Amino acid sequence: MFVALEGIDGTGKTTLVSMLTKELEKGGYRVFATREPTERFHVPEDIVKSRDAVSGLSLFFRFTEDRFVHQREISEHLEKGEIVLCDRYILSSMAYQGVLLEKYFQSRAKTIGWMSAVSDAIKIRPDITFYIDVDPEISMKRISRRGAFTGFEEKEYLSAVRDFYNAISYEGKITLDGSGSVEKNFKEINGILTDRIRQ
Ligand code: TYD
Repeated sequence: MFVALEGIDGTGKTTLVSMLTKELEKGGYRVFATREPTERFHVPEDIVKSRDAVSGLSLFFRFTEDRFVHQREISEHLEKGEIVLCDRYILSSMAYQGVLLEKYFQSRAKTIGWMSAVSDAIKIRPDITFYIDVDPEISMKRISRRGAFTGFEEKEYLSAVRDFYNAISYEGKITLDGSGSVEKNFKEINGILTDRIRQ
């Protein structure tokens, strides 16, 4: 089973992946925990931080290229019968880069259509994608506790990313409220996964 976790920065995805890994392993399952971008992804910080349409285009291809290689690794683990937990996958590109590409396409539907077509190169798809929905106001407070940069522009961008995440319908997407504790989301996800595994 292939499970992806999605959401804007500061939603607790990384903590959730490690909590879920421990719990599933305790239950006797073999787990491959992974993330995107992978360590193969080397893009200058200024391009990642840039908010123009050209960077959006470049980043969409680069993240997709990273995923194109990553999917092979994921598929090898799935073939061994492991549960794959992935911190970010296709929806991250659609939401983060979609916001930038929309400036070029000038239509959300066209942007999503184009991104879906390019993403056809990615054949290994999650069975379930947990999208943790949270207001950037809350998520940015969590990030600032980690000592990262926060700013008005960043909040505006993350709000637009959040809108995109919510606008995209994607097979197997389950939306969870991320305004509460990480523990609460852990229990919800663990419950859903345990049910699915037993089916
Ligand atoms: P993140 O998981 O937040 O990594 P870190 O451990 O460094 O906090 O991912 C880094 C950033 O990359 C994050 O802001 C989201 C962005 N990103 C995209 O814009 N598109 C993508 O396709 C992916 C996978 C990540």
